[in-house]
Amino acid sequence: MNTSEEIAYKEKIDTTRLPEHIAIIMDGNGRWAKAQGKHRIFGHKNGVKAVREVTEGCAEIGVKHLTLYAFSTENWNRPKMEVSALMELLFLTIGKEIKTLQKNNIRLNAIGHIHSLPESNRKALTEVMEATKNNTRMTLTLALSYGSREELTEAAKKIAIDFKAGRITLDEISQQIMGDHLYTKGMPDPELMIRTSGEHRISNFLLWQLAYTELYFTEKFWPEFTKNDLYQAIYDFQNRERRFGMTSEQINEQLTNN
Ligand code: IPE
Ligand code: IPE
Ligand code: MG
Repeated sequence: MNTSEEIAYKEKIDTTRLPEHIAIIMDGNGRWAKAQGKHRIFGHKNGVKAVREVTEGCAEIGVKHLTLYAFSTENWNRPKMEVSALMELLFLTIGKEIKTLQKNNIRLNAIGHIHSLPESNRKALTEVMEATKNNTRMTLTLALSYGSREELTEAAKKIAIDFKAGRITLDEISQQIMGDHLYTKGMPDPELMIRTSGEHRISNFLLWQLAYTELYFTEKFWPEFTKNDLYQAIYDFQNRERRFGMTSEQINEQLTNN
């Protein structure tokens, strides 16, 4: 048999051409649980395993940034019970994972409207971020209460304030300045974005940052996503031609000149 499950994708990856930043929309927890007659929360709990798998998988091969979409601004509209279960799970997970992060030299970071999170979560998050801030192997960024439209609107407001105060002129407002006013300031844009569960949409995730990102969609639900699935996505990414508006001939010429 030669199904994708049995191919060890790790060996196929060219580690000299890794994406520096991978972003993931972890989707399908609820449907995965329902398919087994379980409650949606059971799916969220099992999603934590996949978080561990991909974090380890990325760090192992040398990916420098992993950004996980864990809770969107729109997710606040879910039933109260599900929202509190997700917040509790987040709290417990952050507390539990600190040891693994330290052991693996991984820095924890968060993007989003962190102030909307419950106080206990904010505190736990800040503590772990502070404790891991000097770790250098990889940065794990959790997008929490994250919405890209909110992020862009906030950026526009901050720039307007600076303009009004005379700290910046109209001509100085550039793409660089826009990027510097986003939560992701200082981070490279993701080269690869993965979404699980068969949905083909962005759902308000990194709208600015994904401008030229390669998108990869898989039918697998998040709790069943493995390290090998991650490596398969990276392998797929490495077999694509990124043209950035140019022609294939131009890209090949650049490659031979380098
Ligand atoms: C992703 O799984 C987790 C969060 C959005 C918090 P879902 O909860 O969206 O699961 P589905 O998409 O309903 O199956
Ligand atoms: C996107 O998933 C948000 C996260 C994975 C945290 P959703 O399940 O909320 O997305 P939609 O609403 O189906 O697009
Ligand atoms: Mg979903």
